[in-house]
Amino acid sequence: MRYRRCGRSGVLLPEISLGLWHNFGLEDDALQGRAVVARALELGICHFDLADNYGPPPGSAEECFGRLLQQEFSTHRDEMFIATKAGHLMWDGPYGDWGSRKHLIAGLNQSLRRLRLDYVDVFYHHRPDPDTPLEETIEALVQIVRSGKALYIGLSKYPPALFNRACSMLAEARVPCLLHQFRYNLLDRSCESGMLPAARDQGAGAIAFSPLAQGMLTGKYLNAGALPADSRAARSNSVFLNADKVAADAERVAALDAIAREAGIPLTQLALRWVLQHSGITSLIIGARTVAQLEDCAAAADQPPLSDELMKALSE
Ligand SMILES: NC(=O)c1ccc[n+]([C@@H]2O[C@H](COP(=O)([O-])OP(=O)(O)OC[C@H]3O[C@@H](n4cnc5c(N)ncnc54)[C@H](OP(=O)(O)O)[C@@H]3O)[C@@H](O)[C@H]2O)c1
Repeated sequence: MRYRRCGRSGVLLPEISLGLWHNFGLEDDALQGRAVVARALELGICHFDLADNYGPPPGSAEECFGRLLQQEFSTHRDEMFIATKAGHLMWDGPYGDWGSRKHLIAGLNQSLRRLRLDYVDVFYHHRPDPDTPLEETIEALVQIVRSGKALYIGLSKYPPALFNRACSMLAEARVPCLLHQFRYNLLDRSCESGMLPAARDQGAGAIAFSPLAQGMLTGKYLNAGALPADSRAARSNSVFLNADKVAADAERVAALDAIAREAGIPLTQLALRWVLQHSGITSLIIGARTVAQLEDCAAAADQPPLSDELMKALSE
């Protein structure tokens, strides 16, 4: 595994990180989840991305990972970089989501209990809050670092102007933003016009989630009309990926697959390398349901860079 420096910080992150949004909740196969985490560590994938609401049910990804950590991997804690987040709906009532001091601090305290940890390495505000003054959110994040419950602060899905303001406030408090997290893949390049350059300009790292478009860029859905039975799109708890979404992107994925075939590179590897090759990207957060998927994705980090011609063809 190769490691990249996270913006202007002292932190190095693996090019491939593992996200636990899916596949690690109470409804998933715990033995398989354990095997994926163990193999990730062997491969040098030491960055694990969680959030309070990951599961299902919400909270259960942190609970399962926390149990694993305590029972099997506690001696590896200092080799791991563990992230969690708050900001999406987590509990009932007026304090269960968004960006108030109340929500962020209560949310992190709950996460630490589920994770069985004293601190996380990075704590993110999971999404911007249109109603809470940015000052309150940022002061809460600074307070969290000062309290020792997180070593670094990250932001997720902040539009560029708001991200710049947040970074200025954090820098003023001498708690610089470590990372900006946003979606980036061959089917969604919206970050290129704002979020990616803003992270670069602010000296923050940039970490791309869903680099395989939730599996669409592995080619598993190329057989139109037949969703593989064990795939995310076929599962009833998949909110953002379903048969309609797969059908809507089918033509674009087929065109990308044709380019991959001509280049003699599997689509999965091509999709991951394409994101990794953009200036300012620190790491990709992949999801992996099985050890084989994890190994397949990790292999992308060993591939040589894509040629300029191929980058251009993929970007058209
Ligand atoms: N900040 C945010 O708001 C936000 C939002 C979304 C995600 N994230 C983070 O990003 C992480 C990754 O997101 P994601 O799960 O959408 O990532 P992804 O890597 O685009 O998709 C992962 C899914 O693709 C399939 N897959 C992966 N590798 C494969 C392979 N080699 N061959 C065949 N299929 C493969 C698996 O689904 P199957 O079940 O179909 O096999 C896997 O669960 C999340 O866990 C989370 O940590 C953050």
